Amino acid sequence: MLQVQTLTKTFGERTAVDRASFSVDQPRMIGVIGRSGAGKSTLLRMLNRLSDASSGTILFNGRDITALKGAERRKWQSRCAMIFQQFNLVPRMDVVSNVLHGTLNRRSTLATMFNLYPTEDIHHAIEILDRLGIADQAPKRAEALSGGQQQRVAIARALMQDPAVILADEPIASLDPMNAQIVMEALRRIHEEDDRMVIANLHTLDTARRYCDRVIGMRDGRIVFDGTPEQLTTGVARDIYGAGADFSEAATSTEIATLDRTDAERLKAGALA
Ligand SMILES: Nc1ncnc2c1ncn2[C@@H]1O[C@H](COP(=O)(O)OP(=O)(O)O)[C@@H](O)[C@H]1O
Ligand SMILES: [Mg+2]
Repeated sequence: MLQVQTLTKTFGERTAVDRASFSVDQPRMIGVIGRSGAGKSTLLRMLNRLSDASSGTILFNGRDITALKGAERRKWQSRCAMIFQQFNLVPRMDVVSNVLHGTLNRRSTLATMFNLYPTEDIHHAIEILDRLGIADQAPKRAEALSGGQQQRVAIARALMQDPAVILADEPIASLDPMNAQIVMEALRRIHEEDDRMVIANLHTLDTARRYCDRVIGMRDGRIVFDGTPEQLTTGVARDIYGAGADFSEAATSTEIATLDRTDAERLKAGALA
């Protein structure tokens, strides 16, 4: 499905991503981990074609993504939606309009200028918000929502594009443990129910272990680990993070696991029902 072959990105003398290769045979939920500066964001940006590779190729269902230009490149960008740490919503705009922005690249400039959306798109946007447990927030300004709610709006906006792949760059890095859990559960559910591939850069080990089928570890631009959460032992983690004997898993933990089960069940049943 997705094949990344010796993908490389250099910025002057610096190699941000160094001959990264991996392939994904079916829609999986993949976590990319590694310390700050390891090349995680650069990798994601190349997959989305926000950034051009210096060398190497990306194939999606046999098609060479690295070679796409103009309209074809934009079409790919809507097939692989991106979610960011800082949500990137329009703060003063209402939630539903933010979600409808996800349809932007298939609407005319004029319709966009006058904020004209087809009724069916509006209904669909509300449906998606409902699925994420935040339909009641639809008329509010984005800036009035909590961080966890805003990230779910960003996910809703991504879903509006009906993407085959969702790329999330540190989606929970600005959230408290409870909201982090809600957002990760939402991504997991979207992956499972819609069969969409999710690739998420995560700065914490426990999150990758808990929600992902597969974990890719990066260090100095290289992929140094690619395996299941079970294979991601403390020793392997120490190698990925380039830490010494004093390496502590707690240092890379969001403490999601410390939320008690009742909380977790309640969130699952309520917020995401
Ligand atoms: N636009 C850029 N110009 C120059 N160097 C960059 C740029 N983007 C990233 N880098 C460098 O590439 C390396 C990888 O960065 P990044 O992909 O952001 O890592 P991560 O997301 O894992 O923290 C870092 O050394 C960073 O300084
Ligand atoms: Mg980054």
